[in-house]
Amino acid sequence: MWHLIDEAVGRLWNNELVAFPTETVYGLGAHAAKPEAVAKIFSIKGRPAHHPLIVHIPGAEWMTQWATDIPPIAWDLATAFWPGPMTLILKKQPWVPGVVTGGQDTIGLRVPNHPVALGLLKAFASSGRPGRGGIAAPSANRFGRISPTTAADVLEELGHRISLILDGGSCAIGIESTIIDLSRGAPVILRPGALAAEQLTKVLGEFSASNASAQAPRVPGALVSHYAPHTPACLMPFEEILAYLDAHARQHCCILARTLPPVTRPAHIWHMMEAGPGAYARDLYGVLRHMDRRFPDLILIEQLPDTPEWAAVRDRVGRATAGRIPAATAIGGSDAGVVSAAVSCSRS
Ligand code: TXA
Ligand code: MG
Repeated sequence: MWHLIDEAVGRLWNNELVAFPTETVYGLGAHAAKPEAVAKIFSIKGRPAHHPLIVHIPGAEWMTQWATDIPPIAWDLATAFWPGPMTLILKKQPWVPGVVTGGQDTIGLRVPNHPVALGLLKAFASSGRPGRGGIAAPSANRFGRISPTTAADVLEELGHRISLILDGGSCAIGIESTIIDLSRGAPVILRPGALAAEQLTKVLGEFSASNASAQAPRVPGALVSHYAPHTPACLMPFEEILAYLDAHARQHCCILARTLPPVTRPAHIWHMMEAGPGAYARDLYGVLRHMDRRFPDLILIEQLPDTPEWAAVRDRVGRATAGRIPAATAIGGSDAGVVSAAVSCSRS
């Protein structure tokens, strides 16, 4: 692996893209100070040009290279949570290319906590040329799709379009970083992630979560439908899942369950998710990918607890299912229950 880091650094300097693991999800990396390299990320992902990228840096001391007017709370958060699953939005330095920031005057910065990512970032930053130590990296998936949590997922998403994927195993966290906007006065959480609310409160005091619709154009993760499987997916309470399956016996459904099904249920594919939010998050994208590969008519996801520790998972599951109401044709046409499928799904 470590000789591949040198290879990756060379490719980044050569304006090529390199996929690498982080503790959250795999990233698709480019030399962040080179607009022509960063532009490739947008074309390969099919990502709209105005969606800003996160610049990954090897340590908090690199913040001043990229950001200006850094408030004291940024240093406190960096001390508490970096390396880790936290992205800070700060005022950008004037030199930072607009292609990285989607034309905005702010920049997202993160120090990931994964040995391969940190090894790559440190080697890149100390490779002797004035690179300012930043690797721009969105999640290594096509725009709007499920983020990859293994090297094989990256291969499935983008494999034929990129020349190097560093394999660092499965991502320990499995959903994207918490994004905290410090550029507009009081801190605002733009995207919930693995950092628990009470951890954040210890450093931030009171803080607010974003109004997702107000952020929609700026934050792809805040689009209503994002992180989505190919298969239509619905979120339902357990009892509704059972009723749905009874009414649609001929459909091929996959269920992401938290409750054990009764033994008499017909043979749909039940996947029992882990009980806690951390393990659920770690497995979520992989399970959705796995289900997609079986080409079911529908993925049914059992509703999640309405407690703060489930906020990030609820956010991702909500976006994987939003706007995914199955059309009659999508779930097998003649089944008499198709209309009620649409009703059940739209209710949740
Ligand atoms: O965990 C993660 O954050 C992963 C790993 C690879 O680090 N990255 C990731 O990148 O999720 P991406 O591009 O899929 O999502 C980054 C989010 C986007 O929603 C983007 O709009 C937001 O960060 N973002 C980046 N810069 C921003 C800025 N200046 N203002 C507001 N949002 C910003
Ligand atoms: Mg993404």
